[in-house]
Amino acid sequence: MEEKFYITTPIYYPSRKFTLGNCYTTVICDAVARFNKLLGKDVFFMTGTDEHGQKIAQSAKNAGKTEMEYLNEMIADAKELWKMLKIDYDKFIRTTDDYHVKSVQKIFKDLFDKGYIYKSAYKGKYCVPCESFWTESQLVQGKCPDCHRDVVDQEEEAYFFKLSAFGDKLLDLYKNNPDFLKPNSRVNEMVTNFIKPGLEDLCVTRTSVEWGVPVDFDPKHTIYVWIDALSNYITGLGYGTEDDSNFKKYWPADVHIIGKEIVRFHAIIWPAILMALNIPLPKRVFGHGWLLFGGDKLSKSKTVANAECVDPRILAPRYSSDAVRYILLREIPFGSDGNYSTELFLNLINSDLANNYGNLVSRTLSMLKKYCGNIVPEAYLDTEEEIDKDLKQTIEKCVNETRNYIETNFDVSKALASLFGIFTKANKYIEVTEPYRLAKDESKKSRLNTVMRNLLEAIRIGTILLSAFLPDVSEKVLNSLHIEKPKFDDVKKIYNLKAGENINELGILFPRLDVEKELEELAKIEESK
Ligand code: MSP
Repeated sequence: MEEKFYITTPIYYPSRKFTLGNCYTTVICDAVARFNKLLGKDVFFMTGTDEHGQKIAQSAKNAGKTEMEYLNEMIADAKELWKMLKIDYDKFIRTTDDYHVKSVQKIFKDLFDKGYIYKSAYKGKYCVPCESFWTESQLVQGKCPDCHRDVVDQEEEAYFFKLSAFGDKLLDLYKNNPDFLKPNSRVNEMVTNFIKPGLEDLCVTRTSVEWGVPVDFDPKHTIYVWIDALSNYITGLGYGTEDDSNFKKYWPADVHIIGKEIVRFHAIIWPAILMALNIPLPKRVFGHGWLLFGGDKLSKSKTVANAECVDPRILAPRYSSDAVRYILLREIPFGSDGNYSTELFLNLINSDLANNYGNLVSRTLSMLKKYCGNIVPEAYLDTEEEIDKDLKQTIEKCVNETRNYIETNFDVSKALASLFGIFTKANKYIEVTEPYRLAKDESKKSRLNTVMRNLLEAIRIGTILLSAFLPDVSEKVLNSLHIEKPKFDDVKKIYNLKAGENINELGILFPRLDVEKELEELAKIEESK
């Protein structure tokens, strides 16, 4: 039976249009999902939207729309964006979906019946934008510790989840499963900041918020956002519905990839809810860092001082979806924060996509046309030289590293760096073997063929791997190599193209950009928005 692999993004709030920051997690998950498909696994990749709560109701009101009108428009935009970035999800869950609402009600009732949820009254400091209650001690200078905005006093009748009962179990979880939460620094944060000081029971309903899932046995209460939102990871697989075959097949999740600010919910509250429900826990939770714009998590693209165009809806059509995916996957060391800037983006397109990969493919195919009439030559192994062995060894090493980085730590950035090692080496191989010189000497014909064949194979192997990261350009190149379905097994075969096959030239894959000019153009576009 095929090994299964279930991966999720957070479900994003559609209270504003998705940003490059939301794209960051989604593109990473998509690449990891695609890589696992390449490996031959039965992959289920889910993303979606978190549609309840006061903030959404407020955004709809501000737009002069009903909640559903507003949400449907936002979700259409989100799906359009994912299409643009070639996000190949298997399921898009909306928390307003009927089946989800019903399952959340069942989950709530189940927790209540098992004694993990009880009714009481809540008094506390409430942050409206974050929809979070905080204790006095958690506030930072009297403000919300997450978003640093003002909090208000609030008191209401509410249901509580017995989170306090799970402290030791969570400590055991981290101790016995050192891979459960990554990077390791996040474990220390959870233990020191939340578990060691003592977990408090969690308020899980609101009477003040109408736009939410009602508690079916006490409908003046709506289920507070985190039980509703976190449950998506199982309701999306059909848990609690008539058809739970996907739940049986794919749960537990192999990984939830999320931003570091919501690790607390995924590494404390979610496992506690699952333990209470007696459901197995996800295998991994990975809390990645933030993409920073001028040092900030949120893009300040609207301020004059920093008039950068960071809208993926403009960048992807202008520079290709692959270029946007590339910077998101490659630039930020996975797990840490990293800066984004348009200049960095444009320079990366030039250095890695145009000068390295694009150049390798176009020079090789144009030489193939000139010297071999577009035909894949036989590899004459008797003309093999040290440099050929060196190329093959590098390829093998890079292939193994790429796989390892993804499999052990979902480290897309390091994986891509290794993968591009193949292209760098192949470009150097051209410089050293000088096919243009060999072509001038009839007696070197078989050596020339070997060199061309090695280059084509380097491109084939590299591009099969690249298809997980940059699907558009890879599809173009693989089509020209007559590879319909890229498979990881094929990258282990060093000579796998068919000799005698016709391979046509491709146009320029990534045109070199005039960075200064592009920066000016983008600034104009940003200003005119
Ligand atoms: N709805 C909750 C998540 C519920 S999951 C059960 C939520 N939504 S959100 O719209 O605020 O999305 C937050 C997520 O978007 C982050 O965890 C991260 O995955 C992604 N990002 C948004 N901006 C980001 C950056 N600037 N950098 C990296 N990722 C960030 O929280």
